[in-house]
Amino acid sequence: MPRFVAIASGKGGVGRTSLTFNLGVAMSLFGEKIVMLDLDLVMANLDVITGLLNPDVTLHDVLVRDKSIEDCVYEIENDIRVIPTGIHFETLKHINPNYISWNKIIKEGANYGDVFLMDIPAGINTNIFEDLPEDTEILIITNSTMTSVADALKMRILFNELDINILGFVLNMWYDDKFLLSPNEIESILEIPIISIIPYDREMERSLAMGRSLVEVNPSSPTSNAIMQLAADLLGETYEAIQPDKQTILNRLKKFVGLLPE
Ligand SMILES: Nc1ncnc2c1ncn2[C@@H]1O[C@H](COP(=O)(O)OP(=O)(O)OP(=O)(O)O)[C@@H](O)[C@H]1O
Ligand SMILES: [Mg+2]
Repeated sequence: MPRFVAIASGKGGVGRTSLTFNLGVAMSLFGEKIVMLDLDLVMANLDVITGLLNPDVTLHDVLVRDKSIEDCVYEIENDIRVIPTGIHFETLKHINPNYISWNKIIKEGANYGDVFLMDIPAGINTNIFEDLPEDTEILIITNSTMTSVADALKMRILFNELDINILGFVLNMWYDDKFLLSPNEIESILEIPIISIIPYDREMERSLAMGRSLVEVNPSSPTSNAIMQLAADLLGETYEAIQPDKQTILNRLKKFVGLLPE
């Protein structure tokens, strides 16, 4: 049975898609076969972020044409598959979101891996939530701002009402600032466990611009280590943080100032 993990948030722009991609890569490094799907039919960007540009067949074609999920599963790296959602507004006109059988799509897509990661559109999408497989595990993503935490709380309440299993919340883009909410404050507001604190890292944007995950581009960064640890915790694995290679940096510096031969 594949595992269903949904990355959700109340507010947009908190880092759901970046985390979906990086978490997928991180889980694959533990040997899991990963499938990812962006459930945002209008503003999907998982395909762009994963470097999968202009795929021939997308989920939109499954919804309006005679294509099947099988036709739009793309292996972007060994054991990492993406089902792209599509960006053609013309096609969107023919899709009525109220008549989409998300449950069927999710279960079909999940056949292509051990873990099915879902990037859920921001906000309240009851038609999607009610169609999630029964054993879906939800991760609510928030930043440390009042607005994102307030919106995360709305989501937490809604998921509870719908009886959907919330694993906890991930605090993304974290940095220490006394004007922002602290991890403990957020935990006491949301009343769900804090699963991970992922630091803010400017390299995230740069790695994604190259269509690559930060976890691969800079594995020793605190952000990559936090994502690897999150993957390990979700999979019941152990992970030892990769430390920056200070000796190499120091030797390079010594060579530069002439203390070591070139
Ligand atoms: N830990 C992080 N550190 C620094 N920047 C980050 C981090 N996580 C995400 N970002 C950046 O934040 C921006 C928003 O991220 P992303 O697109 O993943 O958010 P989203 O929640 O999926 O947004 P949307 O609601 O538009 O779908 C991106 O520019 C991304 O590179
Ligand atoms: Mg997104």
